[in-house]
Amino acid sequence: MERSRIETFIYKLSHWISRIHDLILGVDFEKRNDEWNGHRYPYEPTVHLSYRNLKKYIYQLYKDGQTLNVMDIGCGKEKMLFVFSNLPVASVAGLEYVEVLADTARRNIDLLSEKGKIKVPIDVIYGDAEIYNYYDKYNIFYLYNPFDEILMERFIDILNGSISKHPRTIRIIYCNFFYEKVLFDNGFNLETEFYYKTRVYIKN
Ligand SMILES: C[S@@+](CC[C@H](N)C(=O)[O-])C[C@H]1O[C@@H](n2cnc3c(N)ncnc32)[C@H](O)[C@@H]1O
Repeated sequence: MERSRIETFIYKLSHWISRIHDLILGVDFEKRNDEWNGHRYPYEPTVHLSYRNLKKYIYQLYKDGQTLNVMDIGCGKEKMLFVFSNLPVASVAGLEYVEVLADTARRNIDLLSEKGKIKVPIDVIYGDAEIYNYYDKYNIFYLYNPFDEILMERFIDILNGSISKHPRTIRIIYCNFFYEKVLFDNGFNLETEFYYKTRVYIKN
């Protein structure tokens, strides 16, 4: 089998594993929402393929003595919030533009909390990264393809305002890093890269 077909196969397999995982947890992270909202991309959860390396990366930061306050920009149904809440982080939050997704995220949190599956409390905010302006608490941002270059510029512009007010090291974990140029243009440097299609950018 040629490489791209193997990759497609692994990618599809990963989605099937995610479906089984959903069934075990009693949630529905996998079902997509194909609604486009202008510059905002529709809901699709991060694939399982990324988890192992992401977890390793977060554990390394923790071992290095970092206090991590994480926000998922475009958190959808809270799949990655759930993942982060089981890692050594101080706080976890998600921002979501689609109200029905934010509501689903909150329901999933309640359900998983009841089952004792959430270690760090999670905050879900219904809002738009184009105008949302309360990032001061956070130093790690997770983005899985939430929006296009125009909104990426807007988000980074607002984040830069927060960094000027409260200087701190910021890391952006960006899966499917289509618009990384916006990050480089704004003083971020590539810190590391891992499978699946994930890059981490840092600004000191
Ligand atoms: C590809 S999904 C990723 C979902 C989740 N982060 C994950 O990895 O499983 C992108 C999400 O970003 C949300 N989104 C798009 N534009 C947004 C914006 N301007 N502000 C907040 N959320 C946004 C979408 O509604 C969608 O749920």
